[in-house]
Amino acid sequence: MKKFLLALGAVVALTACGGGDEAAPPVDEESPAVDEAPADEPADDATAGDYDAESARATYEQSCIACHGGDLQGASGPALVGTGLSAAEIQDIIQNGQGSMPAQNLDDDEAANLAAWLEAQ
Ligand code: HEC
Repeated sequence: MKKFLLALGAVVALTACGGGDEAAPPVDEESPAVDEAPADEPADDATAGDYDAESARATYEQSCIACHGGDLQGASGPALVGTGLSAAEIQDIIQNGQGSMPAQNLDDDEAANLAAWLEAQ
């Protein structure tokens, strides 16, 4: 019996000093939707944030990619990452054009979704 208690004590001591299992940090409660994507790449989930990224990307590839480049880095038009423009401003540019950019014929929902997605890039 004594032996058993000793053995048990050893196990408890080992477990207590085991270290190494401080475990993963708690999930950031403020961004539950992006816990599977690297920080610099918004989740591609259809419902991340308040836009549909997949649909936005499809619209972008159809209507914007020729001038703004495959990775939003710009081509004949300027880069669209980190423009500092709000979604409303981007939607206005999409639907009304700006400078040498012609207005793009997208319906309101499509333009708003694309603008919200671009704002987040
Ligand atoms: C025919 C080429 C062309 C197409 C197609 C086009 N753009 Fe542009 N875009 C431009 C050019 C050129 C500018 C710069 C306009 C200026 O200010 O003179 C521009 C500017 C912009 C700007 C403002 C950038 C800034 O930093 O001021 C946004 C936002 C933008 N485009 C979004 C879009 C989106 C979204 C689409 C697709 C729906 C699109 N563009 C399609 C050529 C294009």
